[in-house]
Amino acid sequence: MSNLNTETVLDVHHWTDKLFSFKTTRDPGFRFQNGQFTMIGLEVEGRPLLRAYSMASSNYEERLEFFSIKVAQGPLTSRLQHLKSGDQILVGRKPTGTLVHDNLEPGETLYLLGTGTGLAPFLSVIKDPETYQRFDKVVLVHGCRFEAELAYQRLITEELPQDEFIGELVSNQLIYYPLVTREEFRNRGRITHAFETGQLPDDIGLPEIDLSRDRFMLCGSPAMLSDMTTWLKAHAFREGSNAHPGHFVIEKAFVER
Ligand code: A2P
Repeated sequence: MSNLNTETVLDVHHWTDKLFSFKTTRDPGFRFQNGQFTMIGLEVEGRPLLRAYSMASSNYEERLEFFSIKVAQGPLTSRLQHLKSGDQILVGRKPTGTLVHDNLEPGETLYLLGTGTGLAPFLSVIKDPETYQRFDKVVLVHGCRFEAELAYQRLITEELPQDEFIGELVSNQLIYYPLVTREEFRNRGRITHAFETGQLPDDIGLPEIDLSRDRFMLCGSPAMLSDMTTWLKAHAFREGSNAHPGHFVIEKAFVER
């Protein structure tokens, strides 16, 4: 039996010339935990060409959603970026990943730090009611080079707060903090710098980062993950995994496509 489902593309959205997202049908048997990823791809020359993609949709939604960069020479994304409604796509049946609640010890504030398409798993996490049961405050931090790359702003700031199912939780508990590094923006600079200086918690009215209270999920560029991990470890935070819960968990954004 194949370990791949074939799904149909329902909708494609191009955010910039380098970023796009798409929605697909979802096999009713495909179950996942919010924050996980799976292998997806296309059949090329008779064989599946697959890459890891986080689900940007939540596990109670009827459709699957994925958020991708476009790499001109990328074996998969050079093809994937031409997807249109009605096309078929392969979706692996075995989701996995570390950005799940059980890998974190209990805390009060959950910081979700994503750069670029590293935002994707956190879209799933911020739609999950359990996120708001486990944490009093949820802070979604998205760092990009340019403002136009801050995808999903409308979903985060307008649609989710109005959502019938999750709206009240989002309105009361979710804080969105976008950052831009390479042009003028209200929050300018790198995520790491915003924590090193204490600017970020200060801007959103939360206390200084504290091991007893704060938990982190990280997804994005390897350089950001490495620098942020160094900073967290220097403050005695311990990395969690599927085997041992900790104070923070990381997943790299799968950019080499
Ligand atoms: P910068 O513009 O200063 O490189 P990329 O598009 O390269 O994946 O980067 C996405 C975002 O992550 C950019 O805003 C980039 O900032 C930022 N970034 C890159 N390296 C780091 C790092 N070591 N720590 C924090 N942010 C980083």
